[in-house]
Amino acid sequence: MQIQPVAGALGAEIAGADLARLSNADTAAIQDAFRDHLVLFFRDQHLTPEQQMDFTRLFGPLQVTPFVKAMDGYPYIVRVLKEADEKGISTFGNAWHADFTSLPEPPLGSVLYALEVPAYGGDTMFANMYAAYDALSAGMKRMLEGLKAIHVGKPYGTKYGPPRDMKTSRSIEIERNRPDADIEVAHPVVRTHPGTGRKSLFVNPIYTLRFDGMSEAESQGLLEFLYAHAIRPEFTCRFRWSRNALALWDNRCTLHYAVNDYDGSRRLMHRTMVAGERP
Ligand code: SIN
Repeated sequence: MQIQPVAGALGAEIAGADLARLSNADTAAIQDAFRDHLVLFFRDQHLTPEQQMDFTRLFGPLQVTPFVKAMDGYPYIVRVLKEADEKGISTFGNAWHADFTSLPEPPLGSVLYALEVPAYGGDTMFANMYAAYDALSAGMKRMLEGLKAIHVGKPYGTKYGPPRDMKTSRSIEIERNRPDADIEVAHPVVRTHPGTGRKSLFVNPIYTLRFDGMSEAESQGLLEFLYAHAIRPEFTCRFRWSRNALALWDNRCTLHYAVNDYDGSRRLMHRTMVAGERP
């Protein structure tokens, strides 16, 4: 196996691995690379849904994706699909976020496997939240230490959902107006990764609502600063998909963004998640 970093901040492409047939040594090397690079990319993989689930399970138990209809017969797989004729719509993951931080136990990580990709466009971007935290001033770190932020399932709930006239995809069935998505969950703003002991910034614009004990208006300025800081180009990498490529990311210390710039092309991914723990 060859491990080639794709950017200074995070992300590595691994060649020479067949994810359907990994030896114990390869599995251990991939788990080490996952810890070190936070996001891993593999090309030319040929995986059945079962094999994708088996690969996902190497990092922990599978987790059902809430609020999104699962693939028929596969409760742990979601089809992330945009059809070629779906133009000017909002797409799944098209804002910087970590996955489902509105859950008391957000997923540890996610796996995305590309079945059909546009000739160009439809990349996914990632940002390193250890790097974002490390680059803050000592004064800001002191201020954030011990602070919690309130997260809610904005896209899926009744209170903060997208405007009713927003055009959304017909190809991925997302449940909206779910009162349980409005339940507020408090997570530390500075999260310590259980595997590395490193601190990372743990807020994101899709799910974070405000700082615990403060109003939304009081929180807004600092949250906006942190969101902009977190995605400085130096903290990011960008993956150009190819058919049968697979990405695995650590949801505890990264953000990601699905770039929606491929109107007129079909893009189909199979997505699985690894269950996580309370931050
Ligand atoms: C997501 O999981 O947020 C979607 C990522 C993508 O489709 O690139």
